[in-house]
Amino acid sequence: MLNFDPEKLKKDFPIFNQEINGRPLIYLDNGATTQKPNQVINEIRRYNETSHGNPHRGAHQLSIRATEEYDNAKEKVKSFINAKSIEEIIFTRNTTESLNLIAYSYGMEFIKENDEIVIAISEHHSNIIPWQKVAKDKNAILKYMYLDEEGRIPIDEIESKITSKTKLVSIAHMSNVLGTIHPIREIIERAHELGAVVVVDGAQSTPHIKVDVQDLNADFYVFSGHKMLAPMGIGVLYGKKELLENMPPFLTGGDMIEYVYEQDATFAPLPFKFEAGTQNVEGAIGLGAAIDYLQSVGLNEIEKYEKFLVEYALNKILDIPYVNIQGPKDLSMRGGIISFTIDDVHPHDISTILDSYGVAVRAGHHCAQPLMRYLELPATARASFYLYNTKEDIDQFIEGIKNVRKWLGYGS
Ligand code: ALA
Repeated sequence: MLNFDPEKLKKDFPIFNQEINGRPLIYLDNGATTQKPNQVINEIRRYNETSHGNPHRGAHQLSIRATEEYDNAKEKVKSFINAKSIEEIIFTRNTTESLNLIAYSYGMEFIKENDEIVIAISEHHSNIIPWQKVAKDKNAILKYMYLDEEGRIPIDEIESKITSKTKLVSIAHMSNVLGTIHPIREIIERAHELGAVVVVDGAQSTPHIKVDVQDLNADFYVFSGHKMLAPMGIGVLYGKKELLENMPPFLTGGDMIEYVYEQDATFAPLPFKFEAGTQNVEGAIGLGAAIDYLQSVGLNEIEKYEKFLVEYALNKILDIPYVNIQGPKDLSMRGGIISFTIDDVHPHDISTILDSYGVAVRAGHHCAQPLMRYLELPATARASFYLYNTKEDIDQFIEGIKNVRKWLGYGS
């Protein structure tokens, strides 16, 4: 039994008050970005109508209110992922910026010649290219953990790639292409035993499953607001305080300083050392409202419901002989993402044809070209679910899939 009614909850999201191509909008591109409920939209509006000012920069009422609201949003993020203090929460633009911050600030400072950095072949480009840059600049070695035929990282791959030479492991909690939930607990334990730090890309996991950074013992954990009902342009970098304290600033400028002299400067304490320039305050407030919304439903409920949706969809898709599914068959290792191909049809055609049924899915390489090469696929179509999707959404999606080949002139 669920403690929420998805049909009722969907009414909180004004974007669904429209039709696409004469059909109700079925939004299954939540891995790319999510929609916003009235509770988030109204909170951003309220802030702009009553409290907008530049935080930490004035003694007047609006600056004070903006400071309080910004810091309060950070408190919400801290509680949401169970960080120890707000000193460990840095607001960035998105997951990509958070990963770049770690690569430039931690990687360039602490990775040395011949050190090894380990990532998985399934990583998003934003968790590959920053490490390529560190490896090239520091003469370090970038190693990959490869996947089994169901898109999982085997334990022997973890043990053979993470060794005493490893200084840093960076891994997605959940693959944006395959939906695989990687064994990050085992990866973190193994890396820590060998003295390496672990960065977790939580872009696809944080919106969908309960994340507790202390329980996981992650050194860094990063995610984006716009994949969890909040606006674009606000992201989070969690880092353990002792690591962040020893890292040099990434961007420099206003608000991240203590004293500035003609030739030198000292820096503000955490978290402000890593927040140069005027921040995205309305984004932070939107993220705080999104967290309130998600917590009112409950992350465990959301995870349970998405598993139900995936199972419901997979049971129907697996009956269609010309559809091929990527990723684990074991539902306990899979989040709410289904990547698939259809025999003799390019994924872009799948997406275009589904759009005519009002169904939005992503098609392409999903910013994971090394994975596509590894899977020997040019692209996939991807359906990704969230708490406002319903069984009826899946039915319309399946109806669309069953018509794709007919549209292109195949018999079935
Ligand atoms: N990283 C986002 C996705 O997977 C954009 O679609």
